[in-house]
Amino acid sequence: NSLVGSKRQRIALSTSINNGSNVIGFESSGSDEDTDDSCVSDKKAKVDDVTVIESKVIIDEVKPVVVNSVDRKPAVFVPVHRKSVIQKARLKLPILAEEQEIMELISQNSVVIIAGETGSGKTTQVPQFLYEAGYAINKMIGVTEPRRVAAISMSQRVAEEMNVSNEIVSYLIRFEGNVTDNTKIKFMTDGVLLREVQNDFLLTKYSVIILDEAHERSVYTDILIGLLSRIVPLRNKRGNPLKLIIMSATLRLEDFTENLRLFKTPPPVLKVEARQFPVTIHFNKHTFDNYLKEAYNKTVKIHTKLPDGGILVFVTGQQEVKTLVQKLRKSFKLRRNVAKTQEHNSDSDEASEIEQDLKRTLKRKKIRKVMTPVNLDDYSIPGDNDVETESELNSEDEIGEIVINTSKPLWVLPLYSLLPSYEQAKVFREPPEGTRLCVVSTNVAETSLTIPNIKYVVDSGKTKVKLYDKVTGVTSYMVTWTSKASANQRAGRAGRVAPGHCYRLYSSAVFNDTFQEFSVPEIQQKPVDDLYLQMKCMNVDKVHNFPFPTAPDLMQLKTAESRLEVLGALKNSKVTSLGRAISKFPVLPRYGKMLALSHQQNLLPYTICIVAALSVQEVLLETPITQSPEEAKNLRQKWGAMRRQWAGVGNSLLLGDPMVLLRAVGAAEYANTDGKLETFCLENGLRHKAIIEIRKLRVQLTNEIKMNVPDSDIIVDPKLAPPSDLQSKLLRQIILAGMGDQVAKKIKQEELKESEDKIKLKYAYRANNLEEPVFLHQGSVLKKTLPEFVVYQEIYETNKMYMRGVTAIEPEWLATYVPNACHLSDPLIEAEPRYDSNNGKIYCTVSGTFGPQAWPLLNVEIE
Ligand code: CDP
Ligand code: MG
Repeated sequence: NSLVGSKRQRIALSTSINNGSNVIGFESSGSDEDTDDSCVSDKKAKVDDVTVIESKVIIDEVKPVVVNSVDRKPAVFVPVHRKSVIQKARLKLPILAEEQEIMELISQNSVVIIAGETGSGKTTQVPQFLYEAGYAINKMIGVTEPRRVAAISMSQRVAEEMNVSNEIVSYLIRFEGNVTDNTKIKFMTDGVLLREVQNDFLLTKYSVIILDEAHERSVYTDILIGLLSRIVPLRNKRGNPLKLIIMSATLRLEDFTENLRLFKTPPPVLKVEARQFPVTIHFNKHTFDNYLKEAYNKTVKIHTKLPDGGILVFVTGQQEVKTLVQKLRKSFKLRRNVAKTQEHNSDSDEASEIEQDLKRTLKRKKIRKVMTPVNLDDYSIPGDNDVETESELNSEDEIGEIVINTSKPLWVLPLYSLLPSYEQAKVFREPPEGTRLCVVSTNVAETSLTIPNIKYVVDSGKTKVKLYDKVTGVTSYMVTWTSKASANQRAGRAGRVAPGHCYRLYSSAVFNDTFQEFSVPEIQQKPVDDLYLQMKCMNVDKVHNFPFPTAPDLMQLKTAESRLEVLGALKNSKVTSLGRAISKFPVLPRYGKMLALSHQQNLLPYTICIVAALSVQEVLLETPITQSPEEAKNLRQKWGAMRRQWAGVGNSLLLGDPMVLLRAVGAAEYANTDGKLETFCLENGLRHKAIIEIRKLRVQLTNEIKMNVPDSDIIVDPKLAPPSDLQSKLLRQIILAGMGDQVAKKIKQEELKESEDKIKLKYAYRANNLEEPVFLHQGSVLKKTLPEFVVYQEIYETNKMYMRGVTAIEPEWLATYVPNACHLSDPLIEAEPRYDSNNGKIYCTVSGTFGPQAWPLLNVEIE
């Protein structure tokens, strides 16, 4: 148990004690009883017996290289030479020197915070320390990641390092995973663990929970910290201790340590000293709007003028990444072969392709446009003290023509969270010999993934945030300046292997005056309906008293509660049985309700398909990408015709965008029989990857439902016949039941003001809660029929407010399917609800009591 040689970086924190006056008391509520039995019968985890293990910073520890290709997927196949590379890299990680200290701290404390710069080895090493110390003997070591990418890639990496299969070190993300009964270390998204808490409040399967990337402040990680602050003492009380390790970059730790509602005794913080080399920051003199162009120019300059070393470029979203990657590839002539090699996945093919291409490129040394020639002699790398100086590399110079005088092609790779994982894995590999690596990424590369050998960072300083209006729920995407903290994280990526450089495409004045210190925690930026319901199901009665690291706005909680009441998931602040059923589905409550109702109507396969399709972005393409305008026109016509067919004909009009998706997916799955899916998608304007993703979601949702509803006899079959007329009517009613708080009514011509553009307003609707009109989106099938009442999936704002995912409904359905949103006067007049368009009233027979909400702007009354 000696601690020879370990560096002590521990910060002793004051241990002031809070008497717990504000702490919510769900310890004593039902959740206790729920889990009591399973907990008592569990063997006591032997965590206390294990203290500190021998230091293992010894070269002998490198395990023999055995490649077991049978239980590995091709994407994680590890060639022999790579194994030793991995082990060497591992031994260099700064965290290895801290192992004893970390393990000692963990054995002495229930909650420990490990803070260290990104890349210091927290995620990959700490689970292994725990494993070797015996924490996985009887129970599992659970590690949560806010991002799916990280959960998958880290489980693969750790399995590789430990030389075990993915049966032992596994991952589980919302709809996918490889966890087995033998799993010892389980990487999962934070949302997955939150669901597990719901079923097993004391998390009895685990001996340790590691909440990774806590500084990212994802909603679920925040909630888990709050829950675990209560679960850990409960487990201790029962003599079945659970350890909690919060891992974070060194950012804003006070939110966890100084929040006395969270931990009465502030947990100790262990700081891992990272081997971080100095990074020279270069600000632009001016800040330009077109940061993509700036990023392009800067990358080209770095590549053509500066010594070896990978380049990492930060832009805001998938589309920008793709655009920039394409442009760079084009400029450096690797594009054709890259595109080819991306199709097949074979390393040897790739290598020879690239080799040939290199030869060709070297011969040609193409002339390209771009910038003013820079005299190479003028350029020298600024010294480490030159922080915040302008360098010659500012790309604000005139754009002219120069010869790209590098002898190296640029190996350009995209990185964003929706990129398939085998594509993502490429960034961790050595670039082909004779090339320079350039990764164009969204902020996923900021902290969760560390790309090896990056020396130059190009930072647009921008980030894309999904804004939503806390009251109306209108969402919009906005590109804004990121925070100082995250800009510094980005810069830090350049100093992992050697002194590096970060080129900020904005001025130091903008940075100092406009950037916020930290990003706003996610919990304050999005609707909290799903977690509000989940917390209620866990008997957290007063959600506003929950020990959040940062509490959401009260308004957010209120809106969530009232929307859940409209759905019927809550009544008088208590979870209803419908609410419990809804919460079982791993989707948003409104979709959960659709699934719950479909079960009664035998419509599950259809609803599952609709829910899956609504959860995947960009299923129907808008513009064909072709060479000639002629071809594009033809394709567009063809797509249009197909979409009209999917929308139904004559009396069988399916009346809504979700229904078109349903038929499109069905059609694609039929085409799939002959292995012609991709061609079918291409010819009919469907995004091939979206269809595959929907198929996966459907299978997983179906399995999930089978688990929750044991008597259900639904089968997993991607093929789905078109719904009958009756079924499609029922489906629209089910959609209404889920989206009943999002009704819009057509604005009548006579209501239009003189000044308003009548043509555009043809598509204008009045939505509940919104003063401004909302519009049918360009691609909506309902633009032909313009139904009087619709429900929408989402309103988003660009230049105007548009409705997405629109379905036509009959107003008289409102009383039946969303009674909680109706004002009902008492006389019960008729058996069937009936809508009278003359006076805008619905007549119906109802019973029971109904909520106070109504549609103030819609002018619908129900009598
Ligand atoms: O969690 P933290 O940021 O502290 O570091 P980590 O994710 O454990 O990464 C430690 C090292 O492993 C980094 O230098 C990564 O480059 C490397 N790594 C890798 O090469 N391939 C992976 N799939 C994951 C990590
Ligand atoms: Mg990490």
